[in-house]
Amino acid sequence: MPAPSPTRSLDLDGTSVLIFDDSAAACLAAADQIAELVRSTVAQRGKAVLGLATGGTPVPVYKGLVEEHRAGRLSFGEVSTFNLDEYYPMSPLDPQSYRTYMHRHLFSQVDLAPNRAHVPDGTVPESALEAYGASYDRWIEAEGGLDLQLLGLGRNGHIGFNEPADLDTETALKLPTRPVSLHPTTVADAAGDFGGEALVPRRALTMGTASILSARRILVLAFGAKKAEAVAQSLTGPMTAQVPGSLLRSAGDRVTWVLDPEAASQLPGVGG
Ligand code: F6R
Repeated sequence: MPAPSPTRSLDLDGTSVLIFDDSAAACLAAADQIAELVRSTVAQRGKAVLGLATGGTPVPVYKGLVEEHRAGRLSFGEVSTFNLDEYYPMSPLDPQSYRTYMHRHLFSQVDLAPNRAHVPDGTVPESALEAYGASYDRWIEAEGGLDLQLLGLGRNGHIGFNEPADLDTETALKLPTRPVSLHPTTVADAAGDFGGEALVPRRALTMGTASILSARRILVLAFGAKKAEAVAQSLTGPMTAQVPGSLLRSAGDRVTWVLDPEAASQLPGVGG
């Protein structure tokens, strides 16, 4: 079956924005694009390196990739993956860990080598966190950088767990992988997963903007009315560390936004 086409495409200052009928169609199209990128990159240079996201948004994308794999059209045999983030502290075996999420939705379902599936390690001792973050960036570089980074968007505009911050833009564009404190909106949004806000870890390890923004392609997915404001601010507001999604504009035409009509509703010329 051919992948769904967008019902509208916009070019906002060189950034491509694709709006689909609904999130299901958008996720099928995203899975198709990722599968195609893996096939063509492996054909060209013998391997592909993917940056991956967790959260509710990409779950159907992983389902689509697993289906492609089961149909014999997609192999992860030559793929390495680097996830964006992990709560801290967090055991990889904890049901709430992002490692468990990835195992459930992708890693256990495809032919990806376990030693090539990287998720930031939430068990690293406190004193080694900064050094560990720097190593994570070096591992990505040693693989030749990310061919594709898949991103969701926080309601507060965060990408990975790069939260809104009081930083000058130049610094905000070059942040390393590092330990961070979660923003109150992020903690509130995770409350459902952890059985209450009090149980949400207050810290995390996140891939930094430097590695994210260096990816050769970046696919940002955002669905639902609750993301509309962050989408509009990211795409049309000032480029600022207060809205980390706006920093994606520095990556120009390497970025594609994949939206449903609700998430796109506050973009100029889109809302009714
Ligand atoms: C997850 C991540 C986060 C989420 C964002 C949206 O690895 O890095 O930035 O992408 O919080 O989460 P959902 O998809 O649950 O709305």
